[in-house]
Amino acid sequence: MVMNPLVAPLSPEECDALLTMRRDLHQHPELSWQEVRTSARVVEELKALGLEPQTNVAKTGVVVEIGDEGPVVALRGDMDALPVHEQTDLPFASQTEGVMHACGHDAHTSSLVAVARRLVASPPSHGRVRLIFQPAEEGAGGAKAMVAAGVLEGPKPIAIYGLHYWSKMPTGQVGVIDGPMMGSVDRLKIRVTGRGGHAAAPHNTADPLVAACYLVTTLQTMVSRRNNPLAPVVVSIGSFHAGSTFNVIPNEVEMEGTIRTLDQDAWEAVPGWLDEIVPATLAGMGCQGEVTLDRVERPLVNHTEPTQIVQHVAGQLLGDDNVKEFQTLAGEDFSVFLDNIPGCFFFVGAGGQKSDEAAPHHSPHFLLDEDAFPMGVRLLEACAREALQRATS
Ligand code: NI
Repeated sequence: MVMNPLVAPLSPEECDALLTMRRDLHQHPELSWQEVRTSARVVEELKALGLEPQTNVAKTGVVVEIGDEGPVVALRGDMDALPVHEQTDLPFASQTEGVMHACGHDAHTSSLVAVARRLVASPPSHGRVRLIFQPAEEGAGGAKAMVAAGVLEGPKPIAIYGLHYWSKMPTGQVGVIDGPMMGSVDRLKIRVTGRGGHAAAPHNTADPLVAACYLVTTLQTMVSRRNNPLAPVVVSIGSFHAGSTFNVIPNEVEMEGTIRTLDQDAWEAVPGWLDEIVPATLAGMGCQGEVTLDRVERPLVNHTEPTQIVQHVAGQLLGDDNVKEFQTLAGEDFSVFLDNIPGCFFFVGAGGQKSDEAAPHHSPHFLLDEDAFPMGVRLLEACAREALQRATS
């Protein structure tokens, strides 16, 4: 198969521009919904290319289109950093105390700008590419806000693509799978209330601590007795707070946890399971529960045809042996776009050749191999061109 000459390797100048921008963003990370400088930087770069981006989309988002009449293909990059204090010795380490690009969104943003540069230099022959620079991916509702702001309208893209550089995958590999690829993220809070009293007279109390301990256990029956075992669910209680001293039965207990799954049916069933299990478990011990379920992310489910396009272009650029199947229970709000239009999210290895030893995402020691970024740019560009070509031929 002849490789599409339009996704040629990046020139040294293109690589320089990409790394300069990435390092600048890395030095100046901004938290979700505060991406003011980052957004301005993106706008500045796009305007220098002669583009007229739409700014302040859902607050700090930026959208721009390149090309002509015809079908639209969307590409998305996220822009926000994390409340982590950087502990790398990079010469371009974060200059902002307590804030770090510890998930690589600096690289996603600058890669998307690099794609813009290439598309301007060589616009698609038919149709156009919509670049979506999204704020607030880190559990803060950025994708939902961008969709509400209309980024998938006028006209609706035929498909959307996005990538995540991944420190735990060797440089030179791509990870992708058709169907469910990343987990849902639910944040669960339960307040158990009873009737406190003297620890020596438990019969005069309704002990919320004992009831809540049972509840931690019965919540696991969502996994073992409610859920279809062929579609795994994880329930983890991560915090449990009660009481103040040894001889007092407290009035209440607060616990927090998370529920994850790749399965849409299980995800939809979770609220009903909680409605049944929580009150029933607590009532037997005279206690009540107040459940707050924050549905932070839905499962990320890739669509078949766009996934085939990713596999095809990744195979062309990296060799089929380097296109791996991949799933993780980590969450990603690209799932919101995929719930609205067809598309595919994929992972691009950026862990160098010793990715086993690489610090994980969200770690203060997190690093990415910059050599991986030019390939990420080419992959995004190739997905857009291939999708437009298939739509018009
Ligand atoms: Ni991320």
